[in-house]
Amino acid sequence: MTRFSSLAPLLRRRRRLQCFCFELSPDSGPFHMLHEDSAPVSSSSPRGKLFQRLRSLEQSLGSPPIVQLDARHLNLFAKLEGQNLVGSVKDRAAYWMLRAAILRGDVTEGSTIVESSSGNFALALAYFCKQLGLRFIPVIDPNVSRLYETRLRGSCATVVKVTERDDTGGFLKTRLEKVAELCREIPGAFWPNQYENLDIADAHYRCTAKEIVGSFQQLDYAFIGVGTGGTIAGVSRALKERFRGITIVAVDAEGSVIFGGAPRKRHIPGLGSSIVPGLLRHAHIDEVMTVSEVETVRGCRELVSRHGLFLGGSSGTVFAAVSRYFAGEGATRRGARPNVLFLCPDGGKAYQSTIYNDDWARWLAANHGERPCGLPAAQARRTFQPALAA
Ligand SMILES: Cc1ncc(COP(=O)(O)O)c(C=O)c1O
Repeated sequence: MTRFSSLAPLLRRRRRLQCFCFELSPDSGPFHMLHEDSAPVSSSSPRGKLFQRLRSLEQSLGSPPIVQLDARHLNLFAKLEGQNLVGSVKDRAAYWMLRAAILRGDVTEGSTIVESSSGNFALALAYFCKQLGLRFIPVIDPNVSRLYETRLRGSCATVVKVTERDDTGGFLKTRLEKVAELCREIPGAFWPNQYENLDIADAHYRCTAKEIVGSFQQLDYAFIGVGTGGTIAGVSRALKERFRGITIVAVDAEGSVIFGGAPRKRHIPGLGSSIVPGLLRHAHIDEVMTVSEVETVRGCRELVSRHGLFLGGSSGTVFAAVSRYFAGEGATRRGARPNVLFLCPDGGKAYQSTIYNDDWARWLAANHGERPCGLPAAQARRTFQPALAA
C-alpha cells in the first residue's frame, strides 16, 4: 500500500517557497534577482560560477518556431516545442525552475536534484544539471522508453528505477515514495515537484507564451495538452491577458483522471495523469476535450502525411482535438477563419517503435476495438507484444 504521508513535509516546504516565488514580477528581467537577493558574489566562488553557468545557459535557450499549416476553414498554426535545445516543451520548465531555485538559495553547488520523471522533464533536467555541475537522480519506472533510459543512464551517475506498482496499478505513487525516501537520505537533496511547482508555470508564462503573444495580433483559439498542467497554467494565463475572447481548449488523454475521467492504462506518454496536478488550479480553461490513443495515432500520422511534420504523441493528440473541434459545424465556430494555435510538445523520434510502427499501431487499435486510419487493412495482430510506451 502506498502512503503519501512521507511527502507531506516536502510539499509543505514547497508551498511556502512557492508563495515567495509567485510574488516575483513576471516581468522581472533575466537575473533580476541575481544582484538583488544577495550580497555581491565573487565570480570565482562556487556560487559565482553557478550564476555564470546559468547566465550562459540562458543565452543558449533559443525559441522554437510557430509554423502555419494548410487548413480549409482556419488559419492553423503549430508551435513546435520539439525544436528546443534538449528537444521538448520541458526545456524551459527545467531551466527556469532550476534558475529560480538557485536564486532563492534552495539549490546550491552541492545540491542533488531528485525528480520522478521518465520523460522529457528528466531529459531536460539531466542536461541542465550537467551544464550547471549539479547531480541529478531521475526516478523512473518500467514504462520508460529504451531511448530515454539510455540517454538518462548515459548522463546521470545514478538512475533509480522502481518496479513495484502502486494501488492504482501504475507507478506514479511508488516513484514519489522513492523520491521522498531519497530526499530524506541525501543531504542537500532538492525535489522540484513538477506537478506543483509554480516556477514551471512561470517559465511558460515568461517564455512559451511570450513567443506566442509576440507572433499574433489576434488569436481566437489555443489548444494545449495537459500532463502536469505546467504548460497550460502559464500559457493560458498570458493568452487570456493578451487576446480578448480567446478560447482555451485543454486536451487530455482518454484514461487520464485529470478532468474526472475513469482511470485506464495508457500507452502513449506525455498527456494525461493518474493524479490531478496542483498546477491545474492556475490554468484558465474554457473547454476540455478528451482524445483516445487511436485518435492520437491517427493525428500523428496525419501530421506527417498532410503537413510533413514528424511529431510526438501529444502533438498528435492535440491535433486530433483541433480536427474534431472544427469538423462539420465546428468550422464556423468563430468568424470566417479563426486564428487557431496548437502546441506540439516534442518531436517524433522517441515514438518510432510505437506510434509510427504499423504493428504497434494495429495492436493498439485491436486493443481498443478499432482499426487506425492510415494503415493497410491487415488483420489486427492481437498477439503483438508492444515495446513499452515511448
Ligand atoms: C511529450 C509531452 N507532451 C505533453 C506534456 C504535458 O505538458 P505539461 O506537463 O506541462 O502539462 C509533456 C510533459 O512532460 C510531455 O513530455
